[in-house]
Amino acid sequence: MASLLEPPAQRIDTTPQPMPALSGRPIAGSRYWSRDFMEREWEAIWTKAWLIGGLASQVEKPGDFFTYHIGRESILVTRGEDGVVRAFYNVCPHRGKRLVMEEEGHAKRLACSYHGWRFTPDGELAFVPCPEDFAGGSPCGKVRLAEVRCEVFASFVWVNLDPDAAPLAEHLGPVGPQLECYRMEQMRRTHWVTLEGDWNWKCVQDNFNESYHLPFVHPQTRFVMEQSYRECQFDLYAPHGHARMFMPGSRPARSLRGHADTVLQMMSRELAYWGLDPEDFREDPLAIREALQRAKREKGAAKGYDYARFHDAQLTDHFHYTIFPNISFSLKPDGCIWLRADPHPTDPERCFFDMWYFTWFPEGVDRYYAYSMGQEVDRTTPVPHRRGVVGELSCGPGIDQDVSIWSEQQKGLRSRGYRGAHLAGQEARVRFFHDTIDRWLEA
Ligand code: FES
Ligand SMILES: [Fe+2]
Repeated sequence: MASLLEPPAQRIDTTPQPMPALSGRPIAGSRYWSRDFMEREWEAIWTKAWLIGGLASQVEKPGDFFTYHIGRESILVTRGEDGVVRAFYNVCPHRGKRLVMEEEGHAKRLACSYHGWRFTPDGELAFVPCPEDFAGGSPCGKVRLAEVRCEVFASFVWVNLDPDAAPLAEHLGPVGPQLECYRMEQMRRTHWVTLEGDWNWKCVQDNFNESYHLPFVHPQTRFVMEQSYRECQFDLYAPHGHARMFMPGSRPARSLRGHADTVLQMMSRELAYWGLDPEDFREDPLAIREALQRAKREKGAAKGYDYARFHDAQLTDHFHYTIFPNISFSLKPDGCIWLRADPHPTDPERCFFDMWYFTWFPEGVDRYYAYSMGQEVDRTTPVPHRRGVVGELSCGPGIDQDVSIWSEQQKGLRSRGYRGAHLAGQEARVRFFHDTIDRWLEA
């Protein structure tokens, strides 16, 4: 297995993977609403898996901290005075009050608001009121916050509640080195939204494990994305439970190849940015994809992009991954979108859905139009975290379309009339995801 410490490959390995054996087990609706199933997932998955808690940039300096709520737990991530990033249960060891209430911040000492105990960002108890009142002397220097496994990789802080978990590199398997090729640490988060949704977390991961829904949920994609699953590459990584999909982009789907106006209009801004005249493609819009790849290859460096590690296909196509259990991400030539679905503390029919967009700012450019996001982004303005319920906040036009489905899907999954999923062949990643859940539950 490739180690995360080895220098990353120059370009990701796109070799198709052998298809693992998949079960034909029913995917019953109760998986999405049963409290018993939720409890089993908590014990077997959420307290055992590597999870993205937040961004390394949130704990850049000693004393910086952020909190991450996962199910019934709250995790506190800090950068200690020694420069080390650590994670702790966000629990005061005195009498159990949640220690830090803020989402992120900076403090020399983390103070509990109940009886005033204070901790260093390294997790050590540094101050108690009335230290002489403790049998055995002051607990300072003896008591520590309970630590949680933590690793920093690809610009994220990953946490794991299982002290005996295998290292993160082992969990990520072949996806780790691929991720390193994208230099996440050079990107900035430019969109940060959390929605509390009235659906089970698996609706999210199921959704991003298939593209069968694209022409119906995202009708606009039929213009510049090849719909045919036959032209996509799907890879399932057993036993890790992760998956990826490569889908051609920047070319009109078969059914729209007579609609040059629409296609050219949709692509005109990006074509112009790369010095291409949309009119040159009126007769043959299919040529756009290769022309864009050539232009990006030739002009990328002058515009501040380093595409040396990219395959030509990565300059136009959709490289989409899912990481077990709850992450999906799509890599684009100018950034990437990351999506996370976390379980609700008590209700299997609710979850928290995070959408983060990371922009890869060209060298020397602070503000520009990010094509993949369809909006102006600014490197110098910190992006606020916006939280709300569905309908209040936008995750961007494409993801909003996905979000609009899940509440209604949850109602159907809850119905006595739902008999379990009927999956198409191209939904193999959904099957694989549920097989992986079952394997963890049975472990
Ligand atoms: S519970 Fe935190 S100081 Fe008492
Ligand atoms: Fe979608």
